[in-house]
Amino acid sequence: MEIQLWRSILCPYELAVKELVVKFRHIITEHRQNDLYSPIEQVRGRVKSVSSILEKLHRKNIPIERMEEEMEDIAGIRIICQFEEDIETVADLIQKRTDMTVKSEKNYLKHMKQSGYRSYHLIIYYTVDTLQGPKRLQAEIQIRTMAMNFWATIEHSLQYKYKGDMPPHVAERLTKAADAIISLDREMSSVRNEIMDAQNSSQMQSNLVKDILNNIENLYKLSNKREVMKIQDEFLRVFRTKDLQQLQRFHRQLDIIAEGYRAQAVDQKGSGPHF
Ligand code: GTP
Ligand code: MG
Repeated sequence: MEIQLWRSILCPYELAVKELVVKFRHIITEHRQNDLYSPIEQVRGRVKSVSSILEKLHRKNIPIERMEEEMEDIAGIRIICQFEEDIETVADLIQKRTDMTVKSEKNYLKHMKQSGYRSYHLIIYYTVDTLQGPKRLQAEIQIRTMAMNFWATIEHSLQYKYKGDMPPHVAERLTKAADAIISLDREMSSVRNEIMDAQNSSQMQSNLVKDILNNIENLYKLSNKREVMKIQDEFLRVFRTKDLQQLQRFHRQLDIIAEGYRAQAVDQKGSGPHF
């Protein structure tokens, strides 16, 4: 097989990974714009390297012609959550999507691997449009918490270092660390509601400030500059109180003022469409 061939085989997988990463990142954005806690914290994707593909073909005795059917993780997406509870939420979200079809699932949360590995895996079918037309391919989605990811990253490096021949004392430490990760996730889950509240408020504040400053900027163009300066000073005062309710009240009042100016502006310009 030549280099050129690899490139064209992997090209649609590159596209799939890019599209999927954009889509999952957009889920984060949608939550944040709506002042909602996002069950997804971070998204990453990769196309398996040719070297890893060759290694896996050999290890699993897969003929190269069967590669695309049998190797389910040429396209790989990793979704990192803050809390264990978020993993199921994300899995449900994927199940409900119309652009991804779930082929199979592996729940290594319920059934931890011998190594201590925990994650939720989904194999999906996903269609990309290429110059040759639509192509349906498979992708592996791994969903795990930040803590689980920490463990898996370290363990993966050690596996690589020892090439499958891990000394027992290292393996034992990893098992202990896996137990520690389980209790860490459990501890974090117990304060989840508090953390979610805090994050919601911080997101809400950031959206409010953005909106308010937008309004102030628009007003600055339309109305008395001195008045707008006063409004800005008042905003800074309210902001410094760190009181979200005051900020919300200010936001509503400013909205009413801005609405008044917008109405005026439209009146002045007269009716009729203008683009
Ligand atoms: P491969 O393990 O990739 O040969 O595929 P499989 O068919 O055995 O699927 P499995 O669900 O076991 O693993 C898929 C992927 O999950 C792997 O490629 C790794 O990225 C990850 N994974 C599975 N087991 C472990 C583990 O013990 N440690 C770490 N760090 N990652 C693992
Ligand atoms: Mg495996």
